[in-house]
Amino acid sequence: MRVLVTGGAGYIGSHTLLELMAQGHEVCVLDNYSNATPEVLKRVRVLSNGLIHDYVGDVRDSEKLDEVMQDFLPDAVIHFAGLKAVGESTEKPLHYYDVNVSGTLTLLHAMERAGCTRLIFSSSATVYGEPVYLPYDEAHPTNPTSVYGRTKLMAENILMDWTNAHPDRTAVLLRYFNPVGAHASAQIGEDPKDIPNNLMPFIAQVAVGKRDHLQIFGDDYDTPDGTGLRDYIHVVDLAKAHVAAINYAENNTGARPFNIGTGQSYSVRDMVAAFEKASGKPIPTKQSGRRAGDIAAMLADASRAETELGWSALHGLGDMAASTWAWQSANPNGFGTRQK
Ligand code: WQD
Repeated sequence: MRVLVTGGAGYIGSHTLLELMAQGHEVCVLDNYSNATPEVLKRVRVLSNGLIHDYVGDVRDSEKLDEVMQDFLPDAVIHFAGLKAVGESTEKPLHYYDVNVSGTLTLLHAMERAGCTRLIFSSSATVYGEPVYLPYDEAHPTNPTSVYGRTKLMAENILMDWTNAHPDRTAVLLRYFNPVGAHASAQIGEDPKDIPNNLMPFIAQVAVGKRDHLQIFGDDYDTPDGTGLRDYIHVVDLAKAHVAAINYAENNTGARPFNIGTGQSYSVRDMVAAFEKASGKPIPTKQSGRRAGDIAAMLADASRAETELGWSALHGLGDMAASTWAWQSANPNGFGTRQK
């Protein structure tokens, strides 16, 4: 299929391009490079040895979207373009609703004008909020506790109403747990702007000497070692889930959420130990209080994705840590300079 990938120069988007092309799909990227650099696509082109159409633009720009749709005529869209920093979303709610919700609406209008009926949406397990039970299945109540989580749930609801009104439309809602790791080539990986919010990139920057220690946020949670438990998923497994979702969208209509996780959780200390083992580097830590908004434990029931998408995660914790270290140690400054 011809697949338009918004935000395709990002961390998950770039890994997904490689998996789509490996399965023979033709890809086109639309990215405004607010959280990525053109170097990413340069490397993906080398790794794939394939043709990647690409446009610079914002998913809220209707004219740009119409240009891309008319040029590329996509059969489906994978919509990554969005903002994803939980803390920042609390400080800048209108910006997050504008990009994550209005951006999705603008994209849907452009898809309607172009007759494109399939969308794979980058959603998040944060739509669930505090667990009523674990592991989370897709029927778990959705009660997000952050602006970021609310923008993702609002976009999901828009997509559900869109497909309810048009029986031939498809929206596959992928609820990611915690993406980590990097491509086996160590040429692409996670390269956060500024100070990393997330655990794994922060640990990686400590290991490579960019940070002198990791703060562990909270050691008094009701978990085996008192630190937060998360369902970490290798980004290549996550990328493959998007290819499975494209195949599903070719043969199914309606809106349907899928948990994309592993069903195994690890604590902060587990992640530190795994990284020390993979890198051979000590990771100095300092104990801090809990981070506002953090949940004690998150764990996915991904059985629906297994039975209906024919997908399950294959990479374990060792590879998550080793691939992150290979990427970070080969690229201490990530992709290098960023557009301001
Ligand atoms: C993981 C654990 C922290 C940093 C968020 C978003 C989610 C998704 C992934 C977008 C927690 C602890 C972290 C640090 C620490 N993003 N931690 N020291 O918060 O589970 O999920 O990122 O889709 O939507 O909510 O991920 O990596 O920030 O935290 O102790 O310096 O590591 O307390 O227990 P989180 P995280």
